Amino acid sequence: MERAAMIVPLVLALCTAMASAAIVEHTFNVGGMNISQLCTDTVIYTANEQLPGPTIEATEGDTVVVHVVNDSPYPLSIHWHGIFQLLSGWADGAHMITDCSVQPSGNFTYQFNVTAQEGTLWWHAHSSLLRATIYGALIIKPRNGTDGYPFPAPYGEIPILLGEWWNKNVNDVEIDAHLTGLGQDISDALTLNGLPGDQTPCTGAGIYGVEVEYNKTYLLRIINAAVNVELFFKVAGHNFTVVAIDASYTDPYATDTIVITPGQTVDALMTTSAPPGRYYMAANVFDSKTVPFRFNTGTATGIVKYEDAPDDDATATMPTMPSHEDVVTAGNFYWSLTGLVRPSDPPVPKTVDHDMVVEFGVDQAPCAVEQTKCQGFALVAFMNRNSFQFPRNASLLKALYDGVQGRVYSEDFPSSPPPLPGIRRATSVKRLNYGDVVEVVLQSRVYSSVLGAENHPIHLHGFNFFVLAQGLGRFDPRANSTYNLVNPQVRNTVAVPAGGWAVIRFTANNPGMWFMHCHLDAHLPLGLAMVFEVLDGPAPNLLPPPPVDYPKCY
Ligand code: C2O
Repeated sequence: MERAAMIVPLVLALCTAMASAAIVEHTFNVGGMNISQLCTDTVIYTANEQLPGPTIEATEGDTVVVHVVNDSPYPLSIHWHGIFQLLSGWADGAHMITDCSVQPSGNFTYQFNVTAQEGTLWWHAHSSLLRATIYGALIIKPRNGTDGYPFPAPYGEIPILLGEWWNKNVNDVEIDAHLTGLGQDISDALTLNGLPGDQTPCTGAGIYGVEVEYNKTYLLRIINAAVNVELFFKVAGHNFTVVAIDASYTDPYATDTIVITPGQTVDALMTTSAPPGRYYMAANVFDSKTVPFRFNTGTATGIVKYEDAPDDDATATMPTMPSHEDVVTAGNFYWSLTGLVRPSDPPVPKTVDHDMVVEFGVDQAPCAVEQTKCQGFALVAFMNRNSFQFPRNASLLKALYDGVQGRVYSEDFPSSPPPLPGIRRATSVKRLNYGDVVEVVLQSRVYSSVLGAENHPIHLHGFNFFVLAQGLGRFDPRANSTYNLVNPQVRNTVAVPAGGWAVIRFTANNPGMWFMHCHLDAHLPLGLAMVFEVLDGPAPNLLPPPPVDYPKCY
């Protein structure tokens, strides 16, 4: 497939008809596809030969049914990032946590309801590095159409999926990362809706374009699907009003720069009141590491073209991008947002059943024998000195359901960092009763001489959480006790600042096994993860039996 410059006409979101619960059904054929990108021919794995993959659009209350057919040579799980999966934990698609992946030539039907949540979410492969090319938007509209938005109905909607591109098979990138012990090689380009844009060494690399009308308001649905990098996003000559993050409405927040970490989404209104012309959209890396490391210094671009503007990209205006180290711009954005409080939204729980401190980071470990390209040391990542090990023979959820926990995992995940040094490799979970309220101080390890610190996007499956406070340095319960219990951000992924902390709170109102991990893929195989085990509640809050075609391991 040749990737040429194209202007995609907008589908206008004008329909406000009352919808009743429906079934939204898709088939994803996941297989290899020849592609020429960045002047290189390569084979990538995609859903339905699309990059980004198909958009799932549903209305709150609908049932989503996706038949996944695995024509790739790799085991495959697909995760519906941000979906609550109420009593459908089997469909969460976390490899070895909730299923054993759809094997090559196999298939599985994921089925779940989208209830009590609306906005921009996304889906992605959740096994090996496949999510670099297997991802797409998952958009949940309010029940009463655009009238349901807590802001004026936009004239049109523009999806912006930011990604990363490697000129080689991403599975090999991951294998190499394991052999060297040093994490994944940096990507060859950043992408905007699958295309790198025109500011790469390859001329004619392909650029996304969208045509707009003068003086209208558009809703940008921005998703950071990049594998390992936080991003800045701007559109030259235009400002944004942020209205939602991670499918949770916010108080309107005006900015000219969006900051977004892998796993997060941002919905932003943009009014096309600039002099009619051509304007670049652009994304570059926010590098939060406190010691120098290699990262992709490129810029992905796209074009916003006003209706009557000339067709020549050479006339487009480029935004001034923040510098890669601009922690001030990033901090302003991440810390200023507040949640929009509506009477129908669940309030912040006022009492806490589990008070946890989870300290995490990346450390050095001796090379393992099988790490044949390892020189000197390998990387290991941890939460509370536990380096998470994926089970090999059973998914955690199936083990819970079958009552064979002890053979597959231990329920001894510590509630605070153990005093003893040393890192333990274990499949360790934190056990919760149904309905428990959990508060976690997510503490990014403050000091590491060689590796420094960096922002880690911590993502929790199955639940939204309130972000009650954030700060730099070490969390101190006496000095840092001012929590926003009134209108905190509601998220499923929080960028915990480099060497800093965030306090989150959530109610464990859904039985199952819920992964909490760093959404930088480089850190996941290193063990920067843990799992919440939530037991059945009183009927009807019981985990149902697995679907008949559930990908088993035993
Ligand atoms: Cu978006 Cu566990 O992932």
